[in-house]
Amino acid sequence: MRILILYESRRGFTLTVARAIRDELRRRGLTASTAAIRTVDVGTLSAADALVVGTWVSGKIVAGVGPAKEAVAAIRALPDLGGRAVATFCTCDVAPRNTLQVLEDLLAARGATVVGGFTFKRRRSLQHVAAYVDAIVPALERPAAAAGA
Ligand SMILES: Cc1cc2nc3c(=O)[nH]c(=O)nc-3n(C[C@H](O)[C@H](O)[C@H](O)COP(=O)(O)O)c2cc1C
Repeated sequence: MRILILYESRRGFTLTVARAIRDELRRRGLTASTAAIRTVDVGTLSAADALVVGTWVSGKIVAGVGPAKEAVAAIRALPDLGGRAVATFCTCDVAPRNTLQVLEDLLAARGATVVGGFTFKRRRSLQHVAAYVDAIVPALERPAAAAGA
């Protein structure tokens, strides 16, 4: 299974998480690569069996908090995902509020089957990458089962 990790990163932490997820997937024998969601090309997208989509959280801590606007625009511009399985993640310093739900809704509107998400809060949360990957791999491989079908 080929998994493409799409990320929106401003200062680099979301990219660090994306690369750590890629490395964990490869350790499990899967084919995984990363690409910036803003510039990913249609060929790269269509070669992927499943996706992971991650963004940093933008807002004013208690108000207007959500996925970075660049990520929102990039997801809206994706071609139809044809039911493909997509796992989500976000990175933040304080609290993601409803970022993962907004990501899920945007991706579902592009035809994704969203199978779960996780928030990575600051650098120490990198220790949770392995558990996140353990949770998403079965769901990415069998999205219908993960959705209870
Ligand atoms: C302009 C700006 C707004 C932010 N707003 C929030 C916020 O509302 N809540 C929060 O928890 N973190 C907020 N953050 C922190 C980032 O989401 C966090 O540092 C993230 O990991 C950055 O990812 P990156 O290094 O990939 O850009 C904000 C950061 C910036 C630069």
